[in-house]
Amino acid sequence: MRDALGAPQSVLVLGATSEIAQATLRRLAGERMRSARLAVRRPDAVEAFAGELRGRGVAVEVLPFDADDVESHPLFVEAALAGEQDVDLVLVAFGVLGEQSESERDHMAAVSVLRTNFLGAASVMTVIARRLVAQGHGTIAVLSSVAGERVRRSNYVYGASKAGLDGFAHGLGLALEGTGAGVLVVRPGFVRTKMTAGMDAPPYSTTPDRVAEAIVEGLARGAHTVWAPRGMRLVMSVVRHLPRALFSRIPA
Ligand SMILES: NC(=O)c1ccc[n+]([C@@H]2O[C@H](COP(=O)([O-])OP(=O)(O)OC[C@H]3O[C@@H](n4cnc5c(N)ncnc54)[C@H](OP(=O)(O)O)[C@@H]3O)[C@@H](O)[C@H]2O)c1
Repeated sequence: MRDALGAPQSVLVLGATSEIAQATLRRLAGERMRSARLAVRRPDAVEAFAGELRGRGVAVEVLPFDADDVESHPLFVEAALAGEQDVDLVLVAFGVLGEQSESERDHMAAVSVLRTNFLGAASVMTVIARRLVAQGHGTIAVLSSVAGERVRRSNYVYGASKAGLDGFAHGLGLALEGTGAGVLVVRPGFVRTKMTAGMDAPPYSTTPDRVAEAIVEGLARGAHTVWAPRGMRLVMSVVRHLPRALFSRIPA
């Protein structure tokens, strides 16, 4: 259960090698998190991080998880959330950027991005939501992106995957109203992580820790959406309404 200040004590992270996910867990470990279940494609990839959390007094379990393997999601969730302890927070952090030019040449490359970011996330969130409703509380925090707010020519496959995910998560949040469970949609701008390594950072770029701060703050006040940095909300409300001719001239 969350403590009296609303801080999650028991957390499941899907895609725990994500730098944003790890920054969030570090912050939560500094609050009242007692247990973390780290779900990853390659368990050895989080060994050091699991050790770090254990060193801070957090009980850690590492579980194999592949977002693309949607058939496995019901069994995965059952195993991940077995035991007596409820889960307060499920952080959906996996995602791939893909290579836009490759996605335009090879339809399977586009399918792969859409499968992970949209179908994989929608599938596992559907299963998790049922579980949270049954326990009567808990939040799914999901990493969307400003790229889904208005899809750009330069990364329209990734942008479309996030637009789909964002819409799904928003609708799921509405559907969960009154159940005790909820959804927090997280919309970061450009974040300097391994996903964006080698790319030029645009203005308003941010760090995993600042995104983590926005997530933790959003959880504490029961928000349904957070932006990181916060000013992206205003920027995107302008960008969203630009005439197409003007929008298409914004540099990539
Ligand atoms: N960085 C940004 O600028 C930015 C901006 C907005 C939103 N986001 C979103 O924030 C989330 C976290 O991104 P990040 O910046 O922290 O990137 P990251 O460090 O590259 O983390 C993404 C993680 O997703 C995992 N993953 C990919 N496909 C998976 C699959 N099929 N099953 C399970 N795990 C899978 C990868 O795990 P492996 O170790 O197995 O490869 C990878 O570590 C993503 O959804 C991303 O789209 C990022």
